[in-house]
Amino acid sequence: MIKADGLTKRYGRDTVVNDLSFTCQRGEVLGFLGPNGAGKSTTMKMVTGFVAPSAGRAEVCGHDIATDGLAARRKIGYLPEGAPCYAEMTPGSFLAFIADIRGLRGEKRTQRLEEVADRLHLGPVLGQSIETLSKGFKRRVGLAQAILHDPDVLILDEPTDGLDPNQKHEVRELIRSMSADKLIVISTHILEEVEAVCSRAIIIANGEILADDTPHTLAGRSRYHNAVRLTIGDGTGIDEVIAAIERLDSVDTTESDRDHGSIIVVARSGSADMRTWQDVANLVQSNDWTIESLQLEAGRLDEVFRQITRGENS
Ligand SMILES: Nc1ncnc2c1ncn2[C@@H]1O[C@H](COP(=O)(O)OP(=O)(O)O)[C@@H](O)[C@H]1O
Ligand SMILES: [Mg+2]
Repeated sequence: MIKADGLTKRYGRDTVVNDLSFTCQRGEVLGFLGPNGAGKSTTMKMVTGFVAPSAGRAEVCGHDIATDGLAARRKIGYLPEGAPCYAEMTPGSFLAFIADIRGLRGEKRTQRLEEVADRLHLGPVLGQSIETLSKGFKRRVGLAQAILHDPDVLILDEPTDGLDPNQKHEVRELIRSMSADKLIVISTHILEEVEAVCSRAIIIANGEILADDTPHTLAGRSRYHNAVRLTIGDGTGIDEVIAAIERLDSVDTTESDRDHGSIIVVARSGSADMRTWQDVANLVQSNDWTIESLQLEAGRLDEVFRQITRGENS
């Protein structure tokens, strides 16, 4: 549904997006993940036709954004960075205005306006001017205008930025509930957001794609993939436990926090899934150690992200 081919943006001598290519399909929730200044927003602006690329092209649902821009933009709902709205309008008048621009008429227009206000819980504030709304409500108004025409492709630039935890949760639920029959692209610098909502993550830094994979596979590149976290109980000596664990073939090393009696057992790379966990569990049982918890780690996306964006990864 989106095909980007060699997208490049230069501002003066700076290349802020460099030869970006990717394709994505209906049903995906794609996360652009990257540090501030990576080029996420610029890429979204090029895909939505708000900024012309210096080189390369993008297609949305088969329509070239440069030569067939109107048809492409009909397919897109876009929440720009910071969710700008006309501050002096009310959500009611603003959304009615967007409905007209999107060409909604009659019954369908009324129905969509009601549905969207309902879905984003805008009812109580429809008549209040946007500038007097809280950040959470402003963001909901921005989301409402993006989904009003029920687009096939939703492009949301940092949809949860600046929201409180409950509001973040709400927006993520909304994204999940719409993901089955659309393509949704979000940008974020929040790793937990990628893990919570995205089926695929493209990691961007300095305008280039450094990784393109499922969050799960990316986490598998972490040194903590298949690591075992255990907390030992009273009466069991941490030194004895560490020494015995470090003798296991499936173990690379351990990291411990003596004050809390917790040990992270890093699996030797190449060990089969669960092997280290199994070995540690057997050791606990045969030594009759008192253990409060024994958990398997999938891997840490934040660590992988730091490795990749600092160029430490092979
Ligand atoms: N209109 C512009 N003129 C000059 N530089 C820009 C412009 N827009 C963005 N940039 C620069 O491009 C880089 C990427 O910005 P952006 O795409 O907003 O990154 P992100 O959304 O990943 O934080 C930044 O260094 C930013 O300063
Ligand atoms: Mg941005």
